[in-house]
Amino acid sequence: MILKASNIYKSYKDSDQVIEVLKGASLEVNSGDLICITGKSGCGKSTMLYILGLLDAPDAGELEIAGKIIDSRSNHAHEFRNRDLGFVFQFHYLIEDLTARDNVMLPLLILGKSESQAKKRADELLDYLGLSHRLNRFPNQLSGGEQQRVSLARALANDPKLVLADEPTGNLDPAHSSEVWGMIRNLNKELNQSFVIVTHDHEAAGQANKVFELSEGVLRQTG
Ligand SMILES: Nc1ncnc2c1ncn2[C@@H]1O[C@H](COP(=O)(O)OP(=O)(O)OP(=O)(O)O)[C@@H](O)[C@H]1O
Ligand SMILES: [Mg+2]
Repeated sequence: MILKASNIYKSYKDSDQVIEVLKGASLEVNSGDLICITGKSGCGKSTMLYILGLLDAPDAGELEIAGKIIDSRSNHAHEFRNRDLGFVFQFHYLIEDLTARDNVMLPLLILGKSESQAKKRADELLDYLGLSHRLNRFPNQLSGGEQQRVSLARALANDPKLVLADEPTGNLDPAHSSEVWGMIRNLNKELNQSFVIVTHDHEAAGQANKVFELSEGVLRQTG
């Protein structure tokens, strides 16, 4: 087991009203899982992903890592997030002033890898994702699908136990979208990379080994 969230509650307070978003959502992620989460806009998918990614703390409920209950605000959680999690978001925010290679090298340099180690790893990953001819391009010189693949490479740079992705193909046309889904499937099958992916794309969700729908604040397995 990599990560387990049990009975998660989360609400947001607006000026005078409280929006209860998550009302007892639970999810267990095991090594090798490719989990997709679907659900209507505004149902709380991103909220759940932030909580799973230890980027936000739940109001109630438990998060377990490797069998130990942890507090999202603790140092342990902070370390786990940096070392063991990778993130891919819809508006992926590659750094515009850095090339594809430099974007992927950045998380490695932050964790203290040497320049040459980071470069080697970045080049390997970009090559695996079919971008070896694009290493020195800046994000605005890449197609949407290529940019998403660079984001995926960046998320994989530290060899995370789990990649969390929020609509990784949300702003792509069908051709680029299936290109990115193909990469995700290969990473899962060939390298046993684990993923939790929020997506509206039901066809893509068909590639997952588990599919959950978030509705009324809880996750129900639908496939
Ligand atoms: N910081 C916040 N303050 C107040 N309300 C928020 C905040 N973040 C999210 N919400 C509300 O919580 C609900 C869930 O938001 P969330 O972003 O998790 O939905 P989602 O399922 O990811 O939607 P989408 O598919 O459109 O991305 C929405 O009603 C949203 O308006
Ligand atoms: Mg969202």
